[in-house]
Parts: sequence; structure tokens; C-alpha cells
Amino acid sequence: MAIERLVEPTTGANDKEEERIEITLRPVNFDEYIGQEHLKNNLRLAIEAVKKRNDGSTLDHVLLYGPPGLGKTTMAGVIAHELGASLRVTSGPAIERAGDLASILTNLKDGDVLFIDEIHRLRRAVEEVLYSAMEDYKLDIVIGKGPAARSVRLDLPHFTVIGATTRTGSLAGPLRDRFGIIHRLEYYKEPEIEQIIKRTAGILNTEIRPEATKLLAARSRLTPRIANRLFKRVRDYADVNGDGIIDTVIARDALDLMEIDYLGLDPADRNMLNLMYENYGDRPVGLTTIAALTGDEPTTIEDFYEPYLMQMGLLARTPKGRVITEKGKKHLQEEKKTKK
Ligand code: ADE
Repeated sequence: MAIERLVEPTTGANDKEEERIEITLRPVNFDEYIGQEHLKNNLRLAIEAVKKRNDGSTLDHVLLYGPPGLGKTTMAGVIAHELGASLRVTSGPAIERAGDLASILTNLKDGDVLFIDEIHRLRRAVEEVLYSAMEDYKLDIVIGKGPAARSVRLDLPHFTVIGATTRTGSLAGPLRDRFGIIHRLEYYKEPEIEQIIKRTAGILNTEIRPEATKLLAARSRLTPRIANRLFKRVRDYADVNGDGIIDTVIARDALDLMEIDYLGLDPADRNMLNLMYENYGDRPVGLTTIAALTGDEPTTIEDFYEPYLMQMGLLARTPKGRVITEKGKKHLQEEKKTKK
């Protein structure tokens, strides 16, 4: 059985309270958005140019990719806000038929932003409708069936697609080519995560000591969504076991209770690394074998476990499979010692 994870970087889809808080914490403009400086600078320029031209042209379609939890949805909201445009949000799996996409597109207005999360999961038939919509703002639809069927072309408003994906590799070439602006979201730097935690504490009216902010930032996997989630859990702990103020003792006790170690790894990460090491030692292991060992889907391993473990240098990819690095082995040993 796969392990339930507190550090899962996806939103808790069935956790309404979490979703509500996440929305209140979301920055609305570039000035509030911490980090991703390179991306922000590029987007600022492109948006300013559109506004300055003021000739009815719209922002090029934008493709954002990178590990989950780094703020792709948030950035889509910021772009729409900075353009003064309305945002319509959907996702690849939610658009089941070409007709669903047609109805979304015909309801857009000039200048609107359409955010498509998990765009790599669009069905082929839907993707094909999207091509001509993105390219020349036309919608090709077939009316009727059999010999009476005929094809019509409808004009669409001039809109901007913002696509988000964790994997550009699985995006079809023709779709990828229709994006004028393509950017990778990077893991945040620890001081940026500290700033985000401070901002969250301010919004949620909670006092947190600078040393505790540092401690929390170090264990947040360089990911804002996880930083905010851990912050809320630590805040609960401080309310129950103290006077509500988060200091280092409270923060460390709360994180220990959640079994999140000083590199931000949780039991599921350590379990995966341990299983790999116990069964294969220094030999490379294939993705499907790792998935069979942990009981997860291979895509879960690829999208959720690996990116951070590789970023931290604990795991490496080789042509023959994944291997634990020296640093990874050392970390497992240290963690075992502290458990004793
Ligand atoms: N909350 C979540 N992500 C954030 C970011 N990048 N900047 C500010 N607040 C955030």
C-alpha cells in the first residue's frame, strides 16, 4: 500500500478547508509573488508590451512546466490579474470530449485567460480542436452525422491559453509548438521559502520566531505549497501545546511528530530509498520495479518522489535505472541512528 503523505505537493482535492486557506494565501500580483524572478521578469515584459501596443492583440500562449506545488496555478492567476483579464480554470482530464472544449471556448471573451492544468492529459481528439483554436482563433466543428455531416468554422474570441504540466516530455510536439512563451518553474531558494512562511504567518495572524521560520523552511522541500501546509500543522501544534507562538522547540517537536526529517523527507521517501537500498544496494533499479516495491504508480514516483530527491542529490538517474547516491545512503544511515 502506498503511504498517505503530508508532503504530497498536490492540493488536497478533498480537503475543502485546505483549499480555502490556500486560496487566501495566494499572491494576486507580481509584487506579492515571491521567487521565480526569471519567469516574472520575462512575463512582466511580455505583459507590458501587450498593454503598450493596445491594438487588441493578446499575450502569447504560455506553457509552465516543472514539479507540482511550485505555483503554476498561482502564476496563472497573477498573469490574468496583471493583464486585467478574466481567468477561466480547467484541466486536461476534466475536458472529456471535443464538445466540452468547444463550449468552454465559445464562452470566452476577447482577452480572457484560459488556464489548463495537467495539459499533458488532454485527449487526442480534444487536443486537435485546441490546435486551431490556439493558432488562428477558429473552431472547427462537425454538424450532423453520416452523409449529411458538414464541417463549419466558427470565429473565437482572442484569448490566451496558460498550460501547466509536470512533464513537457509527454506533451505532443504540435501542441508544444503553439506556445510562444515556455518556462520552467524552479525549486525555490530557502530564503524565498522563509519569506513565504513569514507572509503566511502574517496573513494567518500567527507569531513565528525567525529561527523557527528557518527550521520550517529547511524542511519544506523548497516548495511553497508544502511550506504552507507544514506551517498550518505547526500552528495547530503551537495552539494545543503552547501559547500559539511558534518557536524552534514547538516547530521541531511538531515536525518530529510528522516524521519529517531535516531534509524534508517524510516516511514515504525514506521507505522508498530504504527498499531500493535493501533490495538492490548500489545497483540501478528500474522505475516500474521501484513502483512495485512501494506500491505506487510509476508516474507518482516520477512526478512526486523523484524530482525533490534528485534536486537534493540523494537519488540519481542513470541509463540503467535509478541509484541511491552516497549522500542518499549517508542520510538513511543518519536517520536510522537518530531513530534508535
Ligand atoms: N504562496 C504560495 N506561493 C507563493 C509565492 N510564490 N509567493 C508568495 N506567496 C505564496
